[in-house]
Formats: sequence, structure tokens, C-alpha cells
Amino acid sequence: MSRPARDASLEARLNALLKGARLGLPVQAYDVLDSTMEEAHRLAQHQASEGTLIVAARQEHGRGRLGRAWASPEGGAYCSLLLRPQQPAAAPQLSLVAGLAVAETLRDIACLYPMIRWPNDLFIKDKKIAGILVEASTAQEQRALNAERSTLYAVIGVGINLTTDPAQLPEGSSSLAASGASHCSREDVIAGLCRRFAAWYERWTQEGFEPVREALRPWIGLFGQPVRLTAGTRRYEGVASDLDESGRLVVRLDSGQPRAFDMGEVTQLR
Ligand code: BTN
Repeated sequence: MSRPARDASLEARLNALLKGARLGLPVQAYDVLDSTMEEAHRLAQHQASEGTLIVAARQEHGRGRLGRAWASPEGGAYCSLLLRPQQPAAAPQLSLVAGLAVAETLRDIACLYPMIRWPNDLFIKDKKIAGILVEASTAQEQRALNAERSTLYAVIGVGINLTTDPAQLPEGSSSLAASGASHCSREDVIAGLCRRFAAWYERWTQEGFEPVREALRPWIGLFGQPVRLTAGTRRYEGVASDLDESGRLVVRLDSGQPRAFDMGEVTQLR
């Protein structure tokens, strides 16, 4: 089967913007891919280096969290970044690091202040404008591939609706342009994100999660709000109160008990 065609002009612009960056190079850009995640996994298993970035102008089978599809028409920024972290089991924290980097990038480039809905959905005025998916190889998979420990990796996938027509997006989603920021180019957003993410990734690697937690708190609009948390088939209601030291969401349940969740989907109740 023939390989998808690369977009040399977008690659050249990203190469220029990412010169000297710690993550985001080498970059491969495509007009269309099935999913940037697939391509990133393929390269990861062929020993691609940490920082390799895959970008597509559109995806035919973009994927989201919890097995959902991610609508990926023209007008969005769709990218996957390959990491080879020393603690590959920390995928949930990496997704919080990525959420922080996306929020700061949109502030810097679009002058927008999205709310992060834990764990990592980004909303503007109650509409979802970006999402993050982290997929990590497990030690078990690596053993099955008969690979070295050093080949453990994580792929961070980010989708941001830039100029996408909201009519092409699921109910409850919107784009930067529809939120008042129509001037953001795909390459500026992706390069800005790689630089922001690289800075936080380095801090997280050196200092652990605590500085990330501190920086994240103001972006998480849920604290003090009544929420419903759906984890698998179970639902819990209470008031979101904080992030704990490992990034879990602490909810004071209606029973009065605090409980920390490491996964799930949050709905704000008011
Ligand atoms: C979510 O909110 O459910 C996560 C969405 C993640 C979408 C991005 S777009 C780039 C990368 N490729 C994919 O197929 N998914 C992620």
C-alpha cells in the first residue's frame, strides 16, 4: 500500500519555527492521515527519537479518549508527539502536563483563557475546543515485541479546532475562530505548543508533578463546583475540591467523604 504524501511546505514552516526546540523535531507533516497516533506508534516501534512530531491537516479516523472518534476535518491542528519518558507509567500526569501546555499556548497565541476540564479537555464558554489523548506502550507490550526497556514510549496526541466550522463538529464543540480568535495559524499553534510542552516536560522530569500541579490549578475551573464523575459504569456526585499530589481529582462526595479519582469523565452539575 502506498504511503500517504508529505506536505513539504508545512514541514519547512514547522522546521523553521521549531529550530533549536527540544521537542517537535524531526517533524513529518501530511495532508491527510488515518490518525497521527497510528503514524507516531509506527515510528516509535522503528526507533524514532524522542521529540518526533507527526502533523496532519485532516484525519480520516481521528481518535479520542474512551474509544471515541475525534472529528478531524480541515481547519484543525492535529498532532502527535513521541516521548520516551524515564517513568512511562506516568501517562496520566503527562496528559495533565499537555493540558497545561495547550492552555498556555492558547493564551499566548490566541489571547484566550480556556478552562481545563479535568483531566484534559479544554473548553471556552462551555464549548470544547481541544482534546488530548495519551497512549503509552506498556512493559507487557514491549516484552511481546521482545524489545529493550529503552523502547518504552508514550505518544501525546493533541487536537485543536482552529478555524473548523462548528457545524462539522459534534454538539458541544467549537473552534478558536468561532470564539473570536481567527488569526491563529496551524504552524504557530503547533510550534508554540511543542515549546511550551518541552519546558513543562523538562520541569516534570526534573522536579516531579508539584510545579505542574501549582501551575494547573488556576486553569481548572471546577474547584468548588458540584460535579458528576463517571468512572466505567459507576457514577459519583460531589464537589470537586482539588488535585492531589499525583494529579488525581479530589471530590468531596455527597456522603461527606473525600475521594481521589485517577480516571473518569467529569460533568459540571450547575
Ligand atoms: C479527546 O478529547 O477525546 C482526545 C482527542 C485527541 C485528538 C487528537 S487529534 C491528533 C491525535 N490523533 C488522533 O487520532 N487523536 C489525537
